[in-house]
Amino acid sequence: MGLSLPGLPRRRLAPPGAASPAYLAAFDDLPREHGFEPLEVEGALPDALSGTFYATGPALSGLFGERYPHWFDGDGAVSAVRFAGGRAEGAVRLVQSAGLRDERRHGGLRYAGFARAFDWPLHLRPVFSRAKNTANTAMLAHAGRLFALWEGGRPTEIDPDTLETLGTRDLGGAVRLAYAAHPHAVPSLDTVFGFGVRVATGRGPKPLLDLFATDAAGRTRRLGVVPLPFLPMVHDFIATERHLVFFVSPLRVRLGRLLFGFGGYAENLVWEPARGTEILVVPLDDPERVVRWRTEAFYQWHFVNAWERGADIVVDLVRYDDFRVGEWLQRLWQGRPLPEAPGRLTRAILTPASTRCQLEERAALPVELPRIAPAARTRPHRVVWSTAHADVGAMRRGPQDRVARLDAETGAATHRSLGGGVYPGEALFVPRPGASREDDGWLLLFATDVRERRGSCFVLDARSLETVARCRFRDHLPPRLHGAFRPR
Ligand SMILES: [Fe+2]
Repeated sequence: MGLSLPGLPRRRLAPPGAASPAYLAAFDDLPREHGFEPLEVEGALPDALSGTFYATGPALSGLFGERYPHWFDGDGAVSAVRFAGGRAEGAVRLVQSAGLRDERRHGGLRYAGFARAFDWPLHLRPVFSRAKNTANTAMLAHAGRLFALWEGGRPTEIDPDTLETLGTRDLGGAVRLAYAAHPHAVPSLDTVFGFGVRVATGRGPKPLLDLFATDAAGRTRRLGVVPLPFLPMVHDFIATERHLVFFVSPLRVRLGRLLFGFGGYAENLVWEPARGTEILVVPLDDPERVVRWRTEAFYQWHFVNAWERGADIVVDLVRYDDFRVGEWLQRLWQGRPLPEAPGRLTRAILTPASTRCQLEERAALPVELPRIAPAARTRPHRVVWSTAHADVGAMRRGPQDRVARLDAETGAATHRSLGGGVYPGEALFVPRPGASREDDGWLLLFATDVRERRGSCFVLDARSLETVARCRFRDHLPPRLHGAFRPR
């Protein structure tokens, strides 16, 4: 754009001081980018574990002397560990988004983000307002290609061998604005479903949900468009063999204020419980025939799984009573006292014909970043792996510091710390070749260690949660969000 705007006021946010909690060091910047190099392995890597584990997450805490107002504003970096023949090699690279390159060229922040407001002069905001697609949220490995995903923009293609950024993609013209960070595969249909939230302009802004389907060859088409009554924050959904299911929580974005540059996205989120949560059930054979109804208000970041059971759809999710978790995340980043805001494994039994939704809490343990065995997708699963706090009170002390295994039927939960000052990212299950039991395999996870100041990739026994091997990077690795595994 080439506009030079000298003397713009910048809201400088000082980094936390010496009295701040020790966990905050987890969010320190990625100190070094590198291609694949041998990792230091403690323990014995299984020969049968063969493939590459990728994850993304915010990796810069700010730029040009300005600290980002929220962890989710951080520029993404993709980290990877390649397992082969009992050895492990690791790599990590910042995503070279168009926004980051532009900002580095101009030597200053020029984009809005999750919480970062677009701080150009008021009269220029509606014209130039734009967000930086940081690709910092999740990974998709499909049809031989690898993508780093972000909530509000197109997928960013990453070279799976070098982790170099290849650029954003519209998936053959299907994605107009956004392809959200949580696509879901339905194995029996050989299809990956995804969605994006966008605001169509014309006679007034119209919030819409775009639905996408990608086949085994990687061809994406737009499955349908669902109008929304307001602009909500929708982070995830779930797919069965016959339906796509959305829970649209009453977390409304003040669209007018956002469009005119009054505050960032996060600042314009309002929790309006009187609206309730809207359930959308989209039939795959007729996506126009959406069944939608309202139930009590709740929030979720993540779904676990869903399947068809006669006239019902069974949906497992990590449910929150409200959006206090938003405050928890914001304060976590600021090093301020944390509220208790637990998310719990919950089962929703939906009956679309009679527009019923019955919610049952399955386990009391506060959990996040849930995963199941890929073979259990769209079928009744028994085992859920997640990150966790040991109890609700532990939420006041810092990030999730446990890895958990939950039985979705009985609610029995076991959890384990990986050591003091070690914060695990999403634990991804990789089945042992030839396995028949749902939990026969390994959990792979990246962890940030604020004491050693070195990132690690753990390989755990998925049944016992015992450490099989720990692979250490040379340098600090900021916390990772979601990952993907690409078998060899
Ligand atoms: Fe997520």
